[in-house]
Amino acid sequence: MIEVRTFRGERPDVRVVVVIVDHEGRMSDAARALDEASGGRVGRAIGLGAKLEHGDTIDVVAPKEGLDRAVVLVLGKPAGIERLQIEEAGASLAVRLKALKVSRAVVASCKGLDLDEDDVAAALASGAMLRSYDFDTYKSAGDEAKPKLERLDFETIAEDALDRATGVARGVARTRDLVSEPANVLYPESFAERCRDLEALGIEVEILGPEALAELKMGALLGVGQGSVRPPCVVVMRWRGGDASPAEAQAPLALVGKGVCFDTGGISIKPAAGMEEMKWDMGGAGAVVGAMHAIAARRSGAHVVGVIGLAENMPSGTAQRPGDVVTSMSGTTIEVINTDAEGRLLLADVLHYTRERFAPSAIVDLATLTGAVIVALGHENAGLFANRDELAQQLTEAGAAVGEGLWRLPLGAAYDKHIKSQIADIKNVGRAREAGATAGAVFLQRFVGETPWAHLDIAGTAWTSRDLPLAGKGATGFGVRLLDRFVADHWENGPQPSRSEA
Ligand code: BES
Ligand code: MN
Ligand code: ZN
Repeated sequence: MIEVRTFRGERPDVRVVVVIVDHEGRMSDAARALDEASGGRVGRAIGLGAKLEHGDTIDVVAPKEGLDRAVVLVLGKPAGIERLQIEEAGASLAVRLKALKVSRAVVASCKGLDLDEDDVAAALASGAMLRSYDFDTYKSAGDEAKPKLERLDFETIAEDALDRATGVARGVARTRDLVSEPANVLYPESFAERCRDLEALGIEVEILGPEALAELKMGALLGVGQGSVRPPCVVVMRWRGGDASPAEAQAPLALVGKGVCFDTGGISIKPAAGMEEMKWDMGGAGAVVGAMHAIAARRSGAHVVGVIGLAENMPSGTAQRPGDVVTSMSGTTIEVINTDAEGRLLLADVLHYTRERFAPSAIVDLATLTGAVIVALGHENAGLFANRDELAQQLTEAGAAVGEGLWRLPLGAAYDKHIKSQIADIKNVGRAREAGATAGAVFLQRFVGETPWAHLDIAGTAWTSRDLPLAGKGATGFGVRLLDRFVADHWENGPQPSRSEA
């Protein structure tokens, strides 16, 4: 991720400058000053092109003494612009600077245009940080010469807005790192170890190893992990709401994540083609870790616990078999028809544990749970299931504000029938080719009781094979910004009274 700094007054001595104009070609004060110093070259450059569109960039080479290049960034739409669109413009700026092999640039203020300077700068910085993320851990020498955008210096960002944007971007980067790591490096124990340094942000981190899980009688989660030589574990992360926060006395919001570090399918093994993608079957757990980071980094006043279940789903002589019956921590017995429907088994115990230990005011779980949700929604939205309309609405709005779309799908008694088992309380699959994402969701619902709960099926959104506005190919970090926004809007200083109660 690039470094972002801010300066006031004297501009750092950097040979590339970014100046802003609007979609009608009106110049910011800085763009106008540069235009004058360059003998009108900025004006001619923007006059040359076709229609100016929000997010466009136009280069001016060697505009004046001491500058190698100016990049003119267009901000503005006839109908006005939202923060998300400014973040996307910041992202396209980062992509452009990287393509130009620029390693460092100064971004001049948009003062003089009809825009809030501080807000615009913070949003541009946010988009640039998010889009410039790169997972290059395993690229060895030779590739080091690859040009990298390293640093942007912004004129006049409010420090707190920049800190907040940086905290969230680091949370997203943390999630992307976890999701990108291969499964030989990131397995339950090593994943849990990587949560330890959240303590530096003031988060309490507790790791429950396999003995503790056995003691708790987490038969469903342990069954998923029993085919692997890498034992499963659960990580509990707790943010009490910062210094002297009244939030701690309140029941927390709980974030729960599926962390299957690799999903072979188990004995119900998956086909070889594309199986490597199942290294990111821990994307729900990764998003919970990134969201905890973002929430703590900005010292949120909310009381939030994150609980992730980590296991590796492998076929072996010790693996569970189709037809096995496991007893979950809640006592509900489950017939394991298909060992590849493992995420719901793991979450059954993590959800029950979370509810029993923390009595949370609400639970939001995130999981790469079903291929069926991709059939229904593609990669453009994650599936949302909830037992409270208001919670569903709040999450949908938070997602829309940050560009992480959610689309609600149904729960309901009629679907409960799909998971009836002949010999146990429930089975872990529904009916073939019928409402597969809902079958997963109604299964999970069995373990949350009456707690307000939402389930985000992120199988289609945790990873992208195409470049997106705020994420290049690979891990997206989907869920981190959404959860951070949801917490900021509804959970600061304890659960907010619902509109109907207020
Ligand atoms: N991790 C997969 C779901 C998945 C599929 C995520 C594709 C990302 C991309 C999950 O564990 C799984 O295998 N689900 C099965 C459930 C079925 C056996 C009921 C599925 O969707 O096929
Ligand atoms: Mn599976
Ligand atoms: Zn899975």
